[in-house]
Amino acid sequence: MKQLRLGLFENAQANDSGTATWRHKGNKRDHFDRMEYWKNVAKICEDASLDFLFLADAWGWSEVDGERPEICSVEALDLPRLDPATVAAALLECTDKLGLVFTSSTLVEPPYAFARRVATLDHLSEGRIGWNVVTTGTAETATAAFGIPMVNHDERYDMAEDYMQLIYKLLEGSWEPDALERDKQGRFADPNKVHRITHDGPYFRSNGYGNTSYSPQGTPVLFQAGLSTKGREFGGRHGECIFLGGGPVDKLAEQVRLIREEAAKAGRSPESIKLMSAFSCVVGDTEEEAEAKYKEVLDSQNPEVTVASYAMYTGLDLSAYAPDTPMSEMKTELSKTQLERFKDKTVGDILENWHAHGVRPSPVVGTAERIADAMCDLAEQTDLDGFLLTPVTQPGTTIDFVTKVLPILRERGAAASGYSDGTLRERLIGSSQPTLPSDHPGAAYRKHGEHSGIVAAE
Ligand SMILES: Cc1cc2nc3c(=O)[nH]c(=O)nc-3n(C[C@H](O)[C@H](O)[C@H](O)COP(=O)(O)O)c2cc1C
Repeated sequence: MKQLRLGLFENAQANDSGTATWRHKGNKRDHFDRMEYWKNVAKICEDASLDFLFLADAWGWSEVDGERPEICSVEALDLPRLDPATVAAALLECTDKLGLVFTSSTLVEPPYAFARRVATLDHLSEGRIGWNVVTTGTAETATAAFGIPMVNHDERYDMAEDYMQLIYKLLEGSWEPDALERDKQGRFADPNKVHRITHDGPYFRSNGYGNTSYSPQGTPVLFQAGLSTKGREFGGRHGECIFLGGGPVDKLAEQVRLIREEAAKAGRSPESIKLMSAFSCVVGDTEEEAEAKYKEVLDSQNPEVTVASYAMYTGLDLSAYAPDTPMSEMKTELSKTQLERFKDKTVGDILENWHAHGVRPSPVVGTAERIADAMCDLAEQTDLDGFLLTPVTQPGTTIDFVTKVLPILRERGAAASGYSDGTLRERLIGSSQPTLPSDHPGAAYRKHGEHSGIVAAE
């Protein structure tokens, strides 16, 4: 059994995944805008030696017929939220080994500013940063908010491709890894190792110098999660760790296979991509106790949230369709994944079930032993490398996982017992170096020079 990679899904808002569980008595997410909340979550992750904490994000919100439904504010469905990169920065001081991964959008964030922000975090964290590259499912509202034109689904990936080329130029090609000398009797940086970059792409332009010197990982570990055809091609080219949304064994195994195929087509080692599926669980000392706990979560939710929540991900107003309408008839320019998932279902099925789990997979509900079995079986049958734990209530179900399920996984040799040394890339991807491997397209932009590694302050 391979050792599973484990990360924790978080979202800097009161709810996540399109559900509305904030009212549940065990859910502390309603205080997502307090530092104490985040310190506690980070401590749980680091005490359990989880590989990383992932902070998801979206810029947009839910709109049905051009209006944000009142229920969105009543149930904190989409807004308010905090900026995930800033939350990651705030957690640097209280964490030491934990990877900090956050989402940033290639649709709305200017690449030059983003390159500086992410490199700053990689410097300060000494190489613990990951970037989840998203093209933004909530594109209609996000582009309206930024006052820029809407870009359709497939073109958003063309734009993301251009974005990546510029990011690589800035992060890999502007400052050579050993440009800094910090010699008080000599020079701070070797001018021969600082290069002007120019980029004149179809979507982005830049002419100048990266604002930040080469960071411990150069490019942060690249995460990705788009599962449409375009999304998979993009992930196969750039992703180092790819999230899957969960689902039945055969579907997951197929997705894993297709993504590894895309990596091979891009000239990369298919095994170097780590595939992690979202995974939720509700643990009880007995099956009955677990079922009762889950019922309590479902009872605390407002099923009315469904229409607004589904609209946030797809722009589709399910209340406008007859319940027996097949989902296969729908089309979206927002998240194609959230349509694909339900192609064999009807509108009525979604209306009845969506509130229970939203975009997160249905939880495995049962004893710790049963949950550990489910994880091991799933990993073996699908060739997954690990799981992104998606809490049902936070921190309740996460604490249950780390105290009850994780020890069983460790006993079976399926989970690490502590952190090994090195950057997030070395630990998570198993790379022999902190920077992008030579078969990754970003590595081609790296100028010569030895990686200076992490330079301790004197
Ligand atoms: C585990 C997981 C986490 C995700 N996190 C985000 C996120 O933080 N922000 C976002 O906009 N999309 C997120 N997504 C959605 C995907 O990145 C992607 O945008 C979506 O699937 C639509 O792209 P597609 O149509 O190419 O599949 C996530 C998906 C999964 C499975």
